[in-house]
Amino acid sequence: MRFHGSLSAAMASSIALCKLHLRGSLSKCFKKVDSCFQRKFGTSTAATKTDAPNKKYKIDSKDGNKSFYTVQEEKIEQAERSVLISCPAKTNEKKFLSYLSRHGDINKCFFYESYGTYAVVEFSNKESLTSLHEGTAIPSINHEATVPFKSRLLSLRNAGPVDMSNGQSAPPCQPQTTIHINELIQRLSKEASIDQQISSLTETYQLTEENVCLRFLVCSLLKDIAAAYFPECTIRPFGSSVNGFGKLGCDLDMFLDLDGISGRNLKRPKAGLSLEYQTKRSASERAGTQSILSVIGECVDQFGPGCVGVQKILQARCPLVRFAHQPSGFQCDLTANNRVAMKSSELLYLYGGLDRRVRCLVFSVRCWARAHSITSSIPGAWISNFSLTVMVLFFLQRRTIPILPTLDHLKELAGPLDKSVIEGNDCTFVSDFTKIRLQDNTETLEQLLQEFFEFYGTFAFNRMSINIRKGREQNKPEMSPLHIQNPFEPALNVSKNVNGTQLERFVALCRESAWMLQQREFNVPHSGSATGNNAPWGLAALLMPSVSQVAGVKGRKKRKREPASERIKGLLESLKNSEVKS
Ligand code: GTP
Ligand code: MG
Repeated sequence: MRFHGSLSAAMASSIALCKLHLRGSLSKCFKKVDSCFQRKFGTSTAATKTDAPNKKYKIDSKDGNKSFYTVQEEKIEQAERSVLISCPAKTNEKKFLSYLSRHGDINKCFFYESYGTYAVVEFSNKESLTSLHEGTAIPSINHEATVPFKSRLLSLRNAGPVDMSNGQSAPPCQPQTTIHINELIQRLSKEASIDQQISSLTETYQLTEENVCLRFLVCSLLKDIAAAYFPECTIRPFGSSVNGFGKLGCDLDMFLDLDGISGRNLKRPKAGLSLEYQTKRSASERAGTQSILSVIGECVDQFGPGCVGVQKILQARCPLVRFAHQPSGFQCDLTANNRVAMKSSELLYLYGGLDRRVRCLVFSVRCWARAHSITSSIPGAWISNFSLTVMVLFFLQRRTIPILPTLDHLKELAGPLDKSVIEGNDCTFVSDFTKIRLQDNTETLEQLLQEFFEFYGTFAFNRMSINIRKGREQNKPEMSPLHIQNPFEPALNVSKNVNGTQLERFVALCRESAWMLQQREFNVPHSGSATGNNAPWGLAALLMPSVSQVAGVKGRKKRKREPASERIKGLLESLKNSEVKS
């Protein structure tokens, strides 16, 4: 699909042709990791493998994807065998691991930096934790009282004379945050094709396996606190931490799951004696959720090691407790009774695992939207990452040869164990990847990115709603500027918060980006690339922060009166300067 002549002409007249020249070299983001971690500890054969900082939380259907819940259960179980230890900066990892392995075999260990150096240590057996706890002291501090709460967040102390220094160097640390957008732009500018740029962006931004482990561990540490009230509860990560679309540094959404508490589904016998628990009743399910979160929030605030800035946001549509977990650096949102969000995460995980282009496109579009303040970490009238992801999925369903199946089709493929009804809403869909047959679409990432911008640059937002259940647009049931039907609660619009101005900015940026990708000046590497002059082009040019000023908050009418934007002037200026210099 190409723009109609008039739109293309309008875009062409509003944006002057220009070349972008930006000099600079890409600084190394990931530290080279010492290979000594590959040694085996104890008798474990699963060596601690930290020599691949770019190793990703890989979802690849060709390798036989595990279902969402299989992955959840495996990672929850690993986290229950793990501890988080604050270490002196120059800890000698060999001595550290040999000291810890007296409690049992160590399966995996990695270090990272967050307000100090931390180590995640996963034992092979849960019993090792009992031994570790027995040998761990509760500190007594003069003039201060400590709450004797025993958690799996520990500190390594050295009262001497053990030499724990690692020569002059700190232990190799795994990155837990991503690079700055300017560095990313430089990195992408060195790639040879837009497809490679999109892959590189995805590789750079996506969560590492270690980061995902840390997320599950933080949930597990929180579970230990919630277990004071509900010993059989589980705290599960959801949202971008587990749906395959998480970027390093994204928040940690957690769900307090009380469904697994034994006795909940025990049927009373039709005859004879039986016992049941006496329980308190709350006025509504919502009120119950609020009081559970209130007491657990209080407990996290008072006794949760490393949990700071605890806020109870109980009146929100989805009540939550928000806090920062300092040792991991995660911004955490703890919710309860939020099963639909869990299902949405599973659905996104499934879609993201079906074809690698899905995640690549979502990462690029999310990054592009963030670079131009289309999305924001602050709640407001912006498009959320979740809505944006659903828009990408919908676009991929709408290709002439669809890349993704509709949610209705996924429901048809569901087996008996996939059946799920939450609060009266049918959330059933297949969980087994192998049951899904994909169509033979061979479009490149470059084509898809281009067409994504054209699709939404010309979408009839005024009349139509986006519906991934049906995989086609439908008449809007209400007049919100942007209507995206909630996949599992059809009466709800997931983008109800978005106002007209924000939608207009999105559309204007889509048009501009589509136009840019059609221009030779932007869609091929600059001739200077060979000489090391990596001027932003392709996806890198689309991410240039100042692009937003072209479509800017001023709106389209104003932009028409101001075709030669400040940005274009600036770019031309920099082009002239760079040509004069070379
Ligand atoms: P990040 O921006 O990287 O945190 O993406 P995210 O997908 O984690 O989004 P967010 O933290 O805002 O929300 C967490 C999860 O809650 C999402 O992945 C969805 O599953 C769900 N969610 C968020 N917003 C909505 C909404 O408006 N409607 C519904 N049904 N679910 C939502
Ligand atoms: Mg999130």
